[in-house]
Amino acid sequence: MKTPVTVVILAAGLGTRMKSRKAKVLHRAGGKSLVQHVVDTAVTFTPPERIFLVLGHQSEDVRRAIATPGVQFIEQPEQKGTGHAVMVGRDRLAALDGYLMVLYGDCPLLRPETLQRLIATQAAGRAAGTLLTADMDDPTGYGRVLHDARGGVAEIVEQKAATPEQLAIREANMGIYCFRADLFWQHVGELRTHNPAHEYYLTDMAAILHRAGHSVEAMRIDDAREALGINDRLQLAEVDRLLRERKLREIMLAGVTIEKPETVTIDADVEIGMDTVIEPFAQILGRTRIGENCRIGAAAIVSNSELADDVEIGPFTIVNASRLERGVQAGPFARLRMDNHVEAGAHVGNFVELKKTHMGPGAKANHLAYLGDSQIGARSNIGAGTIFCNYDGVRKHQTTIGEGAFVGSNSTLVAPIEVGEGAYVGAGSVITNLVPPDALAVGRAHQVVKEGWAKKRRERK
Ligand code: UD1
Ligand code: CA
Repeated sequence: MKTPVTVVILAAGLGTRMKSRKAKVLHRAGGKSLVQHVVDTAVTFTPPERIFLVLGHQSEDVRRAIATPGVQFIEQPEQKGTGHAVMVGRDRLAALDGYLMVLYGDCPLLRPETLQRLIATQAAGRAAGTLLTADMDDPTGYGRVLHDARGGVAEIVEQKAATPEQLAIREANMGIYCFRADLFWQHVGELRTHNPAHEYYLTDMAAILHRAGHSVEAMRIDDAREALGINDRLQLAEVDRLLRERKLREIMLAGVTIEKPETVTIDADVEIGMDTVIEPFAQILGRTRIGENCRIGAAAIVSNSELADDVEIGPFTIVNASRLERGVQAGPFARLRMDNHVEAGAHVGNFVELKKTHMGPGAKANHLAYLGDSQIGARSNIGAGTIFCNYDGVRKHQTTIGEGAFVGSNSTLVAPIEVGEGAYVGAGSVITNLVPPDALAVGRAHQVVKEGWAKKRRERK
């Protein structure tokens, strides 16, 4: 039986240095809020019901922003230190057996593997707790780790309280712990505020457990940046860059070609299939899923959309909240605004805008059109310059185009309107009445031809 793990994520701090009206942990890096990264990492080894977020400032906003159902919340209205932040949850937390892991909501770079290794290290020994440490070139601001004669952790000294000799120690406390829950709760009452900040320091648990005759272990990580907490916008940008590099690497190793990766933005939850090619400056955002053998053109932006295999998105095309089936081609310079479903092999060409539109298989709208609130039948052709007038100033109305219909260039279809299967609309028409199947509708002024008119005009001069 694996020992269950309770995760407490500290996120009550104000984050003054962000200079923001928003809670620090709600700022985004790598396409997700900082705290959501930490929650997503925790769910890889424990159920959401065992994940507790400690909230203080703007706690309502943070609660609303968490996308994982089942995650628990603890209020810490007054921030009296990292130890206090865990203590306030005692009623609910102390009832949970196994391990108690403490994480920070502003540390989105921590990888699941590292935390799983922390749990495994704790499980392999007899320690009362294990903490993450790293040897840093410049550990300024971090707690320093003091070892006992046996190599275990005797104490963590905070920067402010450290002697000059202690400040010279390069091994820094990353602030990430995995305690035995029973021993933690047995001893947490011994925390005191005898320190320059008059706070309950969670770090004091190391010395408390050590004094009680238990051992505390340190697990070193190679790169302290993994535990980097975000305090200001410079660090936010740095972490964003690191998260994105990590995502691109993962995607490329999984068989996706990314041209000029340093220019490409791919959010954390995006999935992309093998042999897809991503051109420079593309952005693939939100919960987008892209199939195999697709091409995403230069500077295209695809968000919260689903693309099947063999889809081609041309350069400078925007696809939002839409579903594109196999072999669809869209762009360059197309805009699929939202709630579109484009079926297999359909084409959406340059300067075509789609909104709440269903295009049947093989339908084509190759140039310059606005197609909103519509059903477009299979294999129909929508000519250049076609406008579906879906809005009458008050309400939106539907346009329906039957299978195999042909809408001539520069036509205006005033919704609600229907063009039947196999029907034709003559170029330049304004269509306001039903066009029956297989009919031709022409709604435009008759052409007048005056023979010789131009020649006579020239001769008059
Ligand atoms: C802490 C550690 C330090 C470690 C460092 C690593 C302590 C006393 N020190 O210092 O040894 O090197 O992390 O980053 O623990 N928080 C609350 N409620 C509170 C206080 C803090 O939720 O009452 C949250 C903050 O929002 C923050 C996290 O806990 O996300 C860490 O608190 P912070 O005050 O930044 O601790 P550090 O000074 O960084
Ligand atoms: Ca900090």
